[in-house]
Amino acid sequence: MRVPVPLPQASRLLNHGPTVLVASAHAGRRDVMAAAWNMPLDFDPPKIAVVIDKSTYTRELVDASGEFVLAVPCAAQVDLVTGVGRHSGREMDKFAHYGIAAEPAAQVAAPLVAGCLAWLECRVLPEPGLAQRHDLFLAEVVAAWAEDWAFRDGRWQDLTPAQRSLHHLGGGQFLTSHDRLSSREA
Ligand SMILES: Cc1cc2nc3c(=O)[nH]c(=O)nc-3n(C[C@H](O)[C@H](O)[C@H](O)COP(=O)(O)O)c2cc1C
Repeated sequence: MRVPVPLPQASRLLNHGPTVLVASAHAGRRDVMAAAWNMPLDFDPPKIAVVIDKSTYTRELVDASGEFVLAVPCAAQVDLVTGVGRHSGREMDKFAHYGIAAEPAAQVAAPLVAGCLAWLECRVLPEPGLAQRHDLFLAEVVAAWAEDWAFRDGRWQDLTPAQRSLHHLGGGQFLTSHDRLSSREA
């Protein structure tokens, strides 16, 4: 079941460096792309950073709306991640082409892509220089969600191979998250 994640815990959804999906919407149009280059930026209020290239249709929708959703996909979605990361929403409606189900978000117009592990609803913090020069977007997380079997009480749970998040190596290769180590210093 999808449950809200308290905002001060939202950074933990990205701490381990998963490849994410960026969903966007504006004026009746919507899109989704893959983004490996993302990171948490602050705890409370939570902020994130993500690279959204100028060439993408996502960029056009994010520039127009000032909003997006980062979704953390799982290993079972690896072909979807690669597909939406190789094709542009200018060529096709990716939601129709890939049969992507989506639910409405709470705070932003961009949708929550179904089948993912967690979602961060984001509002762009305008930094035109960073976006123009480096394609880098900073955003505040205004709502966060996770499947309760995947992330609970501020912690990622032990997941089956198909449920684990994806970590992009490049060239269509990924690792999945696996062994957990606990530090005695914690
Ligand atoms: C695994 C993977 C990771 C990617 N990471 C990023 C990224 O961090 N930033 C980016 O701008 N593009 C990234 N891309 C490329 C975009 O997803 C790609 O350009 C996509 O086709 C854009 O779709 P759109 O035009 O519908 O927005 C990645 C692609 C893949 C397959």
